[in-house]
Amino acid sequence: MITNLRALEEAYVPRDLHHREGQINQMTASLEPLLNDHPGEDLFVFGPSGAGKTTIAKFVLRQLHRQADIAWGYVNCISDSGKSAVLHRLLRDAGLGLDLRQEGTSPSTFLNRLRDLDRQFIAVLDEVDVLADHDTLTALYEIPNVTLLLITVDENDFFASLDGRLQSRLRGTVRVELRPYSHNEMVDILRSRVKAGLRPGMIQDEVLEHIADLATGDARYAITLLRRAARAVESSERRYITRDVVDSVAGEARDVIHDQRVTSLSTEKRLLYELVTQAGTISASDLRARYKEQRTDPIASRTRRKYLRALERYGLVESSGQGRGKTFYAGGR
Ligand SMILES: Nc1ncnc2c1ncn2[C@@H]1O[C@H](COP(=O)(O)OP(=O)(O)OP(=O)(O)O)[C@@H](O)[C@H]1O
Ligand SMILES: [Mg+2]
Repeated sequence: MITNLRALEEAYVPRDLHHREGQINQMTASLEPLLNDHPGEDLFVFGPSGAGKTTIAKFVLRQLHRQADIAWGYVNCISDSGKSAVLHRLLRDAGLGLDLRQEGTSPSTFLNRLRDLDRQFIAVLDEVDVLADHDTLTALYEIPNVTLLLITVDENDFFASLDGRLQSRLRGTVRVELRPYSHNEMVDILRSRVKAGLRPGMIQDEVLEHIADLATGDARYAITLLRRAARAVESSERRYITRDVVDSVAGEARDVIHDQRVTSLSTEKRLLYELVTQAGTISASDLRARYKEQRTDPIASRTRRKYLRALERYGLVESSGQGRGKTFYAGGR
């Protein structure tokens, strides 16, 4: 039934990325100066969850890396948000600064390593809106041999959160928008996964269409549904993936995505998530008090609110009301 499980995994980067040729070309053109050892144009990629932002960024960088000796580092700010953590991760990901430990190394040491590099460096900051402190962005922006590739869901939210100076600096970045996949685009994406990962004839086009309908533009959910459905069939007496099988795994596919998100959270976000989940329902002020009870060195209130917004965006927690009247709820799965 399943001939190549990897092809059905979410992290699998397909050789061809369907329906993003325009954006891939746009990004490649902006980064082209790097091939001649000049900085590229800073890029800003935005679009809803599951629109392929992370995949496309990595795809473009791998292509570029094959053509020239360019260093690039990737950090997901959901998992690393503080200045030292972000800089340490960027360097590590590029195989640089391996002698530097995150604890006890000042941000300026990391920044100097980047500045002193004899090559161009691309800093990929995924989920950049969750960065604890925008000073990190400013510092990276100011290094001549660093090109920024920033990724986030909502362009306006992100720009609104920046101070005026950084806002005007980043205004000049090339904007790459990824819209949710249409029904037909999603069917194409699924079809190529099926071809790479399943025995021929295991799933009819009509069932792929059904998955595309359920996924409403989110390729992560569509691929997770396909994988769970294939597994369900494999461990049963059934021979084909039918609509019923897909429907029967819809809940668990959501749970898988939910659990992956929770696993990716950094310590402070994880604590906030757990406090809300344990309480079920909790007012903003009680949450603040409980959070502070747990921490001798709590993060700033602004950062805490930013992290909570990120948890909400991923449906890990929900809220109602505003300001002091705000209440948080455990996210529905
Ligand atoms: N054009 C495409 N062709 C094939 N597979 C794709 C395409 N776009 C996305 N995918 C797959 O869909 C899944 C989700 O994509 P990705 O993680 O890049 O989304 P995202 O926009 O970064 O979402 P989030 O904001 O939640 O991080 C991945 O498994 C990826 O391989
Ligand atoms: Mg992503």
